[in-house]
Amino acid sequence: CDEVQEVVLQEPCDMHVHVREGAMCELVTPMVRDGGVSVAYVMPNLQPPIVTVDRVVQYRARLQELAPQTTFLMSLYLSPELTPEVIHEAARVRAVHGVKCYPAGVTTNSDQGVDPNDFSQFYPVFEAMQEEGLVLNLHGEKPSSKGDCDGEGDGINVLNAEEKFLPALEKLHADFPKLRIVLEHCTTAKAIELVRKLNQQVPSDSDPVVAATITAHHLLLTVDDWAGDPVNFCKPVAKLSHDRRALVSAATSGERCFFFGSDSAPHPVENKQRYRGVSAGIFTQRYALAYVAEVFEAQGRLDTLQKFVSDNARRFYRVAGEAKNTVTLYRRDHVVPELVTNNSQTVSVVPFMPGETLHWDIRW
Ligand code: NCD
Ligand code: DOR
Ligand code: ZN
Ligand code: ZN
Repeated sequence: CDEVQEVVLQEPCDMHVHVREGAMCELVTPMVRDGGVSVAYVMPNLQPPIVTVDRVVQYRARLQELAPQTTFLMSLYLSPELTPEVIHEAARVRAVHGVKCYPAGVTTNSDQGVDPNDFSQFYPVFEAMQEEGLVLNLHGEKPSSKGDCDGEGDGINVLNAEEKFLPALEKLHADFPKLRIVLEHCTTAKAIELVRKLNQQVPSDSDPVVAATITAHHLLLTVDDWAGDPVNFCKPVAKLSHDRRALVSAATSGERCFFFGSDSAPHPVENKQRYRGVSAGIFTQRYALAYVAEVFEAQGRLDTLQKFVSDNARRFYRVAGEAKNTVTLYRRDHVVPELVTNNSQTVSVVPFMPGETLHWDIRW
């Protein structure tokens, strides 16, 4: 039988993780490596968000203590406190690789985010980032218009929120053509199309300036999977099957502008078990590479997995140093547990696809 039994991967990177603070952080941070990932780009949407160099340096030290073998690349949270001076200082001490921009009100801990209809207040910050070579990470959604979500004008709802954001991405790229921008956790065929288009405007041998991360869950889910299932509810929500197919084709294509960012976003099980105010976020960290391998195998494209989960990201982020860590994905059936819990049983999280069988496991 000639089916692939093992795939050896060099330095897998997950370019979008939420590892939180406190007991949740202690539980999930070591799971970055358990899931097969060697380099993780850490989101700053803590409570309160990370807006200072001191705090991000402290946070990285804590993560490094919890997972000494994992490399953590850090980010700051775009907010009015984040001045060009902070950007220059962060770059000088190599505290971060980028800055994350959350439109106010679209997702978990985004209250202190920015108005996506007008980024002009942050142009001096983007200028400084462009100069320092820091990456701008965009949560690419417009906030929903609630009562008026189907209008001809701006009527925004969870299904078109990303598409409605895309002109803002185009404008940012036009205004800062050298600023590297990542459209995070993209979910639509339209977004894939735009990222490709923006890259066709640069010479084919040069590195992308605009890229997109793709999560494991958006490669696997569509709307019906989260309607009525809080475990699969996240922002941006999973879209339609033609969108999912576009994501799968972009991820497996090997194109340099697409790479893996799990957006693994653990929430205590209690916050998923209410009938209103269910927390958005899917916890994929523990089996990150296994979920992705399921998709690549189904496409017969395990050959491009290395590009998607490592090469493209390392190149885009100019990750320093050699790829020295190797992980092996091997064929083994195992059942995802219903709950992942810490030793003192004070924190529990439902992992993505509870009770389902995965066909790949990892060993370091
Ligand atoms: C690194 C980081 O943020 O983890 N920053 C960088 O390279 N700009 C730290 C480092 O490599 O020294
Ligand atoms: O589903 C999500 N959860 N989307 C985000 O953008 C944030 C994240 C979280 O922090 O929980
Ligand atoms: Zn986001
Ligand atoms: Zn996120």
